[in-house]
Amino acid sequence: MAQLWGGRFTKETDQKVFAFNASILFDQRLFYEDVAGSMAHTKMLEKQGILSKEDASAILDGLSSIRKDVEEGTLEISSSYEDIHSFVEAVLTQRVGDAGKKLHTGRSRNDQVALDMRLYTRKKVKETDAALKQLLSVLCHLMDEHRQTYMPGFTHLQKAQPVTLGFYLGAYFEMFRRDRGRLSDIFERMNYCPLGSGALAGTTYPLDRDFTAKELGFYAPMENAMDGVSDRDYLLEYLSALSILMMHLSRFSEEVILWNSNEYRFVEIDDAYSTGSSIMPQKKNPDIAELVRGKTGRVYGALISLLTTMKGLPLAYNKDMQEDKELAFDAMDTALACIELFSDMLETTTFRKDVMKASATGGFTNATDLADYLVGKGIPFRDAHGIVGRVVVSCDEKDCAIDDLTLEELKAFSPVIEADVYDAISLETCVNKRNTYGGPGAAALETEIAGAKKYLES
Ligand code: ARG
Repeated sequence: MAQLWGGRFTKETDQKVFAFNASILFDQRLFYEDVAGSMAHTKMLEKQGILSKEDASAILDGLSSIRKDVEEGTLEISSSYEDIHSFVEAVLTQRVGDAGKKLHTGRSRNDQVALDMRLYTRKKVKETDAALKQLLSVLCHLMDEHRQTYMPGFTHLQKAQPVTLGFYLGAYFEMFRRDRGRLSDIFERMNYCPLGSGALAGTTYPLDRDFTAKELGFYAPMENAMDGVSDRDYLLEYLSALSILMMHLSRFSEEVILWNSNEYRFVEIDDAYSTGSSIMPQKKNPDIAELVRGKTGRVYGALISLLTTMKGLPLAYNKDMQEDKELAFDAMDTALACIELFSDMLETTTFRKDVMKASATGGFTNATDLADYLVGKGIPFRDAHGIVGRVVVSCDEKDCAIDDLTLEELKAFSPVIEADVYDAISLETCVNKRNTYGGPGAAALETEIAGAKKYLES
């Protein structure tokens, strides 16, 4: 048991209490951030004349050697320390002697941990953004490839109107684009430095908080020291953004699972991203998509957990806040892995154009277009809707598509129908005439894809 405090205690900490209180098993992830924060703090202390040049360079050399040794695996982060901050300071003092004991001048673990967690989260925000960008480029590629891959669009999971796969995927492109937007908003708001907040009320030393903020790549120091040590909004925002992102991935996974089913057969997930059954030899299961869908719950759980932890906390630091780490780390790992695996799975999935097209052709996906055709011949839309409804009932009885009816049969429903009807309600026309901005028509989709490409280049 190695602790940074003890002066005012007359008894040893109980072993169980130590274990319950300790965070090193999970906050050792913050090692590199902790060292970076300590280095910036040391440089600032020296610049301000609070530390001598000799002490500062002893500390900086010591911290570099610790970082190098941990990196190379020659120094193990030992769980006999309470937390990562204690570990670094204790090893530093073993290595450089009394200078090491001066590192914590004008600093508290409260602003130290606030800094470390913020630095770590900032790094993860960037990593998440990069993974999302990769997923978007896979999507953009597929959109381009499948401009003319016809498929049914659904509402209520019933065939509604024909679209193209490129258009369908474009909807997901927009969702993930917004997810990136959220990450960049979060970055802008979170990129302020808590270091120098002290325990809660700053310090009497003449710290230069602007210096450490710049040194660590922040825009500026946080305005209020009490907020500096108490704020976990940035983490909640990040977990919210991850939750929304996971919701998008989960919806997409659900589609892939449906499309991969024996009933749909729209896609075939690559063997490398499928798994088999231990008993049923014919099975090829969409486990990756199911896991992404399932893991969404874990990420939501981290958000709800931290919101609940924070809701009753008075200012300023409370030990409850140590609970911000384990689930948040898990959520970050989970979301990143899900984006990457989903992206790879998508890239290798085969889309069965023939099955999709056949499915778009049946099921009255051109019923709206027949109504629009009648409107073109001067019939009010509401009447046209009624006429087509009767056509659909009749086709249903005959078990055929609208296009299968002869001109005579069609004319029986409305005399305005001419031979040009077949072209007007063909799959190609139905899709390609939908050229309203944002629509699936070839021209509209062209604009959308050009915009997506431009966005990815910028
Ligand atoms: N392990 C602690 C945490 O994660 C570090 C801060 C400890 N500060 C304190 N006053 N006990 O929050």
